[in-house]
Amino acid sequence: MTGLFITLEGPEGAGKSTNRDYLAERLRSEGIEVVLTREPGGTPLAERIREVLLAPGDEQMNPDTELLLVFAARAQHLAEVIRPALARGAVVICDRFTDSTYAYQGGGRGLSVERIATLETFVQGDLRPDLTLLFDLPVEVGMARASARGRLDRFELEGDGFFNAVRSAFLTLAKAEPARYSLLDAAQPLAQVQQAIDALLPELLERARG
Ligand SMILES: Nc1ncnc2c1ncn2[C@@H]1O[C@H](COP(=O)(O)OP(=O)(O)OP(=O)(O)O)[C@@H](O)[C@H]1O
Ligand SMILES: [Mg+2]
Repeated sequence: MTGLFITLEGPEGAGKSTNRDYLAERLRSEGIEVVLTREPGGTPLAERIREVLLAPGDEQMNPDTELLLVFAARAQHLAEVIRPALARGAVVICDRFTDSTYAYQGGGRGLSVERIATLETFVQGDLRPDLTLLFDLPVEVGMARASARGRLDRFELEGDGFFNAVRSAFLTLAKAEPARYSLLDAAQPLAQVQQAIDALLPELLERARG
C-alpha cells in the first residue's frame, strides 16, 4: 500500500470533525488526493450499523454486541473505502478508528485489550493507521460542546466516569506509541488547534508524497 492512513481520535466534542475538514482542505490545496471518511460508518451499510450503535433505546446493548457491531462496520468500511483508497495512493483521513474501540469499548465499557486486539487483527490484518492526531481535552469541556450541538447519542448519555476512562485510555494509547501519535490540546481556541495542525503539515505532505 502506498497511501497514507491518518486517523483523528479523541472524546466527544474534541473537534475531530471540525478539524478533519480543515486538514483535508490544507492537503487538497497542495494537490493531494484526500478521502474523508468516518467511523462507525463510511459506507451505506456501515452507516446503518452506526445508527444502531448510536440510537438510544430501551434494551441495554451488551458490550460484546457493541464491540462486534463496531468491527462489523469496520470490516465493511475497510473493504469498500479505506483499502481501495490506500491502494491507489490516496491520503485517507478517518474521523475515529480502532483507537476509539480501545477507548470506548475497552476503557469505557471495560472490555479487555486482548479481546479487542484479537478482533483488530481478525478484521484489519496488519493494517494500522500511519499517523493519529489525538484531540485531548477535559471531559467537561468536550461534553459542554457536544451538548450544545443538540440531542445526545447513546454514548453521550454516559456519565463522567465513562468519559474519564475513555480519555485516559486514549492517553495511554498515545503514550505507548509516541511515533504514531500527535497529541493536540483540543481545549484551546480553534485557531490555536489549527495552528498546531499547520505545524504538522510539512511532515504530512512529505509522507503523503512518499
Ligand atoms: N477548539 C474549539 N474551541 C471551541 N469550540 C470548538 C473547538 N473545536 C470544535 N468546537 C466546536 O465544538 C463542537 C464539537 O466539535 P466537533 O463536532 O468537531 O467534535 P467531535 O470531536 O467531532 O465530536 P464527536 O466525537 O461528538 O463527533 C462543534 O460545535 C464545534 O464547532
Ligand atoms: Mg464528530
